Amino acid sequence: MTVLTVCNRKGGTGKTTTVVNLARYLSLANHSVLVVDLDSQGHVNQGFGGVASAQSPWQCDEALSEHNDWPRLTLCQIADDESFDSVRFITWLHQVKARFQHVIIDTPPTNDEALNTAVRVSDALLVPFAATPLGVAGVHQLTRLFMKVAAAYNPDLRLIGLLPTMFDRRLNIHQQVVTSMRAEYGEKRVLRPIRSNIKLAEAFSAHLPIYDYAKDCTGAMDYQLLADEISALWGQA
Ligand SMILES: Nc1ncnc2c1ncn2[C@@H]1O[C@H](COP(=O)(O)OP(=O)(O)OP(=O)(O)O)[C@@H](O)[C@H]1O
Ligand SMILES: [Mg+2]
Repeated sequence: MTVLTVCNRKGGTGKTTTVVNLARYLSLANHSVLVVDLDSQGHVNQGFGGVASAQSPWQCDEALSEHNDWPRLTLCQIADDESFDSVRFITWLHQVKARFQHVIIDTPPTNDEALNTAVRVSDALLVPFAATPLGVAGVHQLTRLFMKVAAAYNPDLRLIGLLPTMFDRRLNIHQQVVTSMRAEYGEKRVLRPIRSNIKLAEAFSAHLPIYDYAKDCTGAMDYQLLADEISALWGQA
């Protein structure tokens, strides 16, 4: 069982898109996955058709498991910024996580307490980022948090990957940033980019993972490959 937090303090870097589609592809590969949404925007739930109820946020909502189209997926929305209770969250996660092969946590860009707590309880972090100078600054900020938490609370924490998102290979700036990130963090740490693909945005609007919306598009291919890559990395853990 592995707890993976998808995080970046910058907004709009593809965190939720990554959580929804990674979870869907891992479940297609026969892994049982719990998706925890710590963002009060509730976007993960929207990405899965709005099936989770927000009324009982501390109970795993089994609706996704029961959903014919999305077996082996469970969604839990813990989504109230004002009442985020880190002790309660940690206790709850310890109780439920053994039921799943993977726990994937989506984090808000703005609630530091939720983000810090998720990082403390995780085995690994995945950081989607825009391949721009500002995006690089966001990654630096996040890796400082990673080092602080790993040193103080969670020595087993791994930075499983930095994930360029909305990548356009025709743009020199995107190519340059990925090259410089690989030089800085190592070839393996910077994962294969997720290309910019409007189908991913359309799928979110249609409240469907990309596999269910347009499984032959480049966005679907990229997230399938990411799931394979993450599975392989977890296998080596
Ligand atoms: N690879 C992609 N190509 C095109 N559009 C994308 C891609 N990834 C995400 N998007 C779109 O970009 C927007 C932001 O994505 P997303 O909501 O996943 O980011 P986020 O990091 O979760 O944002 P927030 O910080 O607000 O939670 C959404 O409209 C989404 O559909
Ligand atoms: Mg989000």
